[in-house]
Amino acid sequence: MKPITYELMKTCKQTGARLGRVHTPHGSFDTPTFMPVGTLATVKTMSPEELEELNANIILSNTYHLWLRPGDDIIGEAGGLHQFMNWNKAILTDSGGFQVFSLSDRREIKEEGVHFRHHLSGEKLFLSPEKAMQIQNVLGSDIMMAFDECPPYPATYDYMKASVERTSRWAERCLEAHLRQNDQGLFGIIQGGEYEDLRKQSIEDLTSLDFPGYAVGGLSVGEPKHIMNEVLEFTTPLMPSNKPRYLMGVGSPDSLIDGAIRGIDMFDCVLPTRIARNGTCMTSFGRLVVRNAKYARDFRPIDEKCECHVCKNYSRAYIRHLIKCNETFGFRLTTYHNLYFLLNLMRKVRKAISEDRLGDFKKAFFEQYGLNQP
Ligand code: GUN
Ligand code: ZN
Repeated sequence: MKPITYELMKTCKQTGARLGRVHTPHGSFDTPTFMPVGTLATVKTMSPEELEELNANIILSNTYHLWLRPGDDIIGEAGGLHQFMNWNKAILTDSGGFQVFSLSDRREIKEEGVHFRHHLSGEKLFLSPEKAMQIQNVLGSDIMMAFDECPPYPATYDYMKASVERTSRWAERCLEAHLRQNDQGLFGIIQGGEYEDLRKQSIEDLTSLDFPGYAVGGLSVGEPKHIMNEVLEFTTPLMPSNKPRYLMGVGSPDSLIDGAIRGIDMFDCVLPTRIARNGTCMTSFGRLVVRNAKYARDFRPIDEKCECHVCKNYSRAYIRHLIKCNETFGFRLTTYHNLYFLLNLMRKVRKAISEDRLGDFKKAFFEQYGLNQP
């Protein structure tokens, strides 16, 4: 039995975007999709019941964080991550590679793995392809990610080439160390920065290992937006069309549409949940900073076009008040709305693909999105 399978339903005649469905041991999800991030086994401020109400069918969590706290041993004792956090739909875990590179200052990359210090305690730690697989096997996520190196932007060609080659060797070790191939799918991560021939090499190396899905890594690391689009344009056509394609760490509304148009099926990002806790909302007119003074007496919903539970029942003035007072409920309301906004955007993208009009949808979306909300 293959744990992860992908069904391609159709491609948009206007843009080439893909409409599909991914099947996992914990249910299926339609693509293109956005995965809310639950780093520490919780999508911050949301209950699993609320995530279900939002129609989230897959969430992301992090190997690195859960390994350190509470420890994969405790999650294993609970019966795995699904049981531990009471989430019965699909879970994808990132491998820890990216977090080690972005969170720890002192780190040493060696062929065997990465030596680094705990981002809170300073304790010496070591993560390797084998260790990342072992932890993810204990967590029991439906989709595991290979242990890769995500080099910073910009990186020299020579550095990137050596890094891509090491990431390919690590991918092979990941596959060998992955001991639950019947009920957990392992995705390979394509690297190579903005270098076309290195992306091609990375894809050739990884596709020869026949993963059930592939991610595009190393983007949204500080490069200008047009570079991300150009990289996707020469990368996705080389990726297998019968497997899901996941663009890691991307979640702004415009990038989701641009990614889908370039053949991406899955996205994740902390953006909607993080900015929510800072009083910023995503709307069809662009961002709305609801904590601003100008909303003190504004009794309209966050987004007059939004049909979410928050927009049907609560005003900007009330939510602003809660956030100004640091009331937890305020962060719950903005988080709920932002996740609804992105999940609903992806529903609209899927509908537009099914009707061969994603190009028209994009145009209409951007005409409004550029404007600022009154
Ligand atoms: N999250 C965002 N980008 C990356 C990446 O390149 N690799 C991994 N493992 N996670 C990511
Ligand atoms: Zn809303």
